[in-house]
Amino acid sequence: MSCTIIVGGFFGDEGKGKIVAHVAHQDRPSIISRGGVGPNAGHTVRIGEKAYGVRMVPSGFVYPEATLMIGSGVLVDPRVFLREVDLLGARDRTFVDGRCGIIEEDHIARDKGSQHLREKIGSTGTGCGPANADRVLRTSRQAKDVPELADFITDVAEDVNCALDKGETVLLEGTQGFGISLYFGTYPYVTSKDTSASQIAADNGVGPTRIDDVIVVFKAYPTRVGEGPFSTEMSVERSHELGIEEFGTVTHRQRRIGTWDGKMAHYSAMINGCTQAAITGIDRIDPACFGATDYDRLTGKAKDFIAQAEEDIGKPVTLISTGPEMSQIIDLRGEL
Ligand code: IMP
Ligand code: MG
Repeated sequence: MSCTIIVGGFFGDEGKGKIVAHVAHQDRPSIISRGGVGPNAGHTVRIGEKAYGVRMVPSGFVYPEATLMIGSGVLVDPRVFLREVDLLGARDRTFVDGRCGIIEEDHIARDKGSQHLREKIGSTGTGCGPANADRVLRTSRQAKDVPELADFITDVAEDVNCALDKGETVLLEGTQGFGISLYFGTYPYVTSKDTSASQIAADNGVGPTRIDDVIVVFKAYPTRVGEGPFSTEMSVERSHELGIEEFGTVTHRQRRIGTWDGKMAHYSAMINGCTQAAITGIDRIDPACFGATDYDRLTGKAKDFIAQAEEDIGKPVTLISTGPEMSQIIDLRGEL
């Protein structure tokens, strides 16, 4: 039995989806349940020739054996959710907690129409901020009040805790990243909720004593979308020279890119209660590492980078992603 949380250590888009996919295939969880804010999160999925931005269904859907869940802390946009379960063919194994807050069209209009949210903060315009505000005011609807969601409703907290009681493995997926946590991030340039590991546990109704591992995912070159401080940010020209430009999944905005921030990695690992770390994009530090699956195939430059990251984080780096494919990863967890 084990319960593992996977969260983003920087500003989101660290490649958590890829880490979740790999860990799921290795550890074979019976349930993969997501926490986090709502459909402001996104990760890209390729189906045939087309790329889709998945925003509600857990990114663990790529592991076909698991039941997929959305914990009660997460905001649900029923339109987005229903489109995705059909697109991904995941209708029969995806469940939503009846207590999830609902995003209405009006929340999206208020998010997009707000100069403060849209322009000053640089929100994703997906309605999450206004929907969480209404939830705190206790005026919003819950998932159990929406007939279109009737077939999907469950008690995620109960299902997850029962699975753990039976000795099964559960993966809890975080979204966003530490730097945009409402409590610990660069306020006011943050999202509308905490994004740390404790919040992801709470979102799913899992008590802190039941968590065995917290894997914090860090990107070798961190990125940020939207406004707000980013101390290691590089110029667009420099990211161009390095050939590492990126665009957002939800908003298609160009992501701001920076270099490794050891101080932030340390602080983020501490507050997340990191037990082990994943580093993604090591092939960007040294392209010679692309696709490596064996630690010995990493170059000196990459190994030095990992050693420095481990010192900053204060915990072992056990997963090193070397490319976009699920198989392009070095997994050292067995060596702990
Ligand atoms: P909101 O969460 O849409 O209100 O946006 C607030 C801030 O959080 C903006 O800077 C967004 O770009 C950022 N943000 C929200 N969700 C994500 C995410 O999943 N990845 C990266 N940035 C995000
Ligand atoms: Mg993303």
